[in-house]
Amino acid sequence: MEKFVINGGTKLKGSITVGGAKNAAVAIIPATILAKGLCVVENIPNISDVGILFKMLKEMGASVKSINKTTVEIDTTSVNNPFVGYELARHLRASYYFLGALLGRFNRASVSMPGGCHFGVRPIDQHIKGFESLGATVTIDHGMINARTKKTLLGSHIYFDVVSVGATINVMLASVRAKGLTVLENAAKEPHIVDLANFLNSMGADVRGAGTDVIKIHGVDIMHGASYSIIPDQIEAGTFMIAAAASKGNVLIKNVIPKHMESVTNKLESAGAKVTEYDDSIRVECTGPISPTTIKTMPHPGFPTDMQPQMTALLTVAEGTSVITEGVWDNRFRYVDELARMGANVQVDGKVAVITGVKGLKAAPVKATDLRAGAAMLIAALIAKGTTEIEDVFHIERGYEDVVAKFNALGANIKRVEAPKTDIEMPASL
Ligand code: EPZ
Repeated sequence: MEKFVINGGTKLKGSITVGGAKNAAVAIIPATILAKGLCVVENIPNISDVGILFKMLKEMGASVKSINKTTVEIDTTSVNNPFVGYELARHLRASYYFLGALLGRFNRASVSMPGGCHFGVRPIDQHIKGFESLGATVTIDHGMINARTKKTLLGSHIYFDVVSVGATINVMLASVRAKGLTVLENAAKEPHIVDLANFLNSMGADVRGAGTDVIKIHGVDIMHGASYSIIPDQIEAGTFMIAAAASKGNVLIKNVIPKHMESVTNKLESAGAKVTEYDDSIRVECTGPISPTTIKTMPHPGFPTDMQPQMTALLTVAEGTSVITEGVWDNRFRYVDELARMGANVQVDGKVAVITGVKGLKAAPVKATDLRAGAAMLIAALIAKGTTEIEDVFHIERGYEDVVAKFNALGANIKRVEAPKTDIEMPASL
């Protein structure tokens, strides 16, 4: 397994450019199934989750060509096999977006139960409720989710019992080609929901209200290829913002939509960092001590759960006691045992973590237990005294492009120790 070896203690300085949003890309790539014709997608992040989705598309008969490092041409005209098997689906959650997209185009889909980070139970009842409401029959057999409808999907009124990013995206994908009007209520409002709606509309769909909790979709018969550029990654930007503050550095983070960062900006300011917003970049500087703060993660526009572990890493060295409540997932504090190995004092009771700040962290061998937990370990290692080794960094590389190069460009000292290649292929120049 690959490792990162990090010599901590450097103040991060300089500038980095954020890549395309992972959680938008992993919805937009399956969405290309909905149109016959050429889609040119720009600002694609160079991460392994994206590589796996391209592999799935190719296995279904699509053509996927890299034009440059961040632009890909996708043509799904000749896709004729609405099937995604276990071997690829087990790597990531977003593989289930092919259910909605394939159902929308072919009225049938079979996709293996998805993988992804483990934060306790990750049910898909709201996805199934949505598909059934559109007229599909959904069964789960031998680990495969099968959805089909005899005729065509019919628009419907769906109230989600919980605010779910995945269910909102999946049902939106299925309903853009359903007959009539679909109304999604209690929908998720994350920036990647809006980005997907914009992409679908650029392919000829009629989706209105994305970014609010009511989304209205008028089904269309035909969708066409389109050119589209994915929004910047809010979580990658936030991770660099926190790392800049934690290291007492001064970093300009470019290719950012500052509005998407408001909840993170606000908490970093309470923790003592100076955050300056520009049109499409943000500067984070921190010279004084880190102050303790209180955070509860919530669906957008609340504080994102995907920034919770990184914020915990920062607050381990605050001057006082902080409290973080996880409001989205049942079990997203598994990584604190790894922080404890570095001298952090974090007590977890269910969904609440009480973080008593310590003077400093000390290097230790640790593991990335999932993607954002891995990012938290990186931040902890950057501020710790000594040389930290992080194992299982494949989790980090699922969602952060060129992460070692980007941190090293800011003065960090990170080495990636190579290990045998995985079976996951990225398209030629990605
Ligand atoms: C998406 O996961 C993201 N993944 C996650 O980011 C993120 O943590 C999460 O949204 C919340 O923002 C992708 O976009 C690929 P949900 P998703 O459905 O869609 C419950 C990262 O680090 N629920 O919004 O799986 C569920 O148990 C990843 O980039 C149901 O009860 O999350 C949870 O408590 C990790 N029934 C809550 O809703 C359902 O049918 C929110 O889950 C679906 C969800």
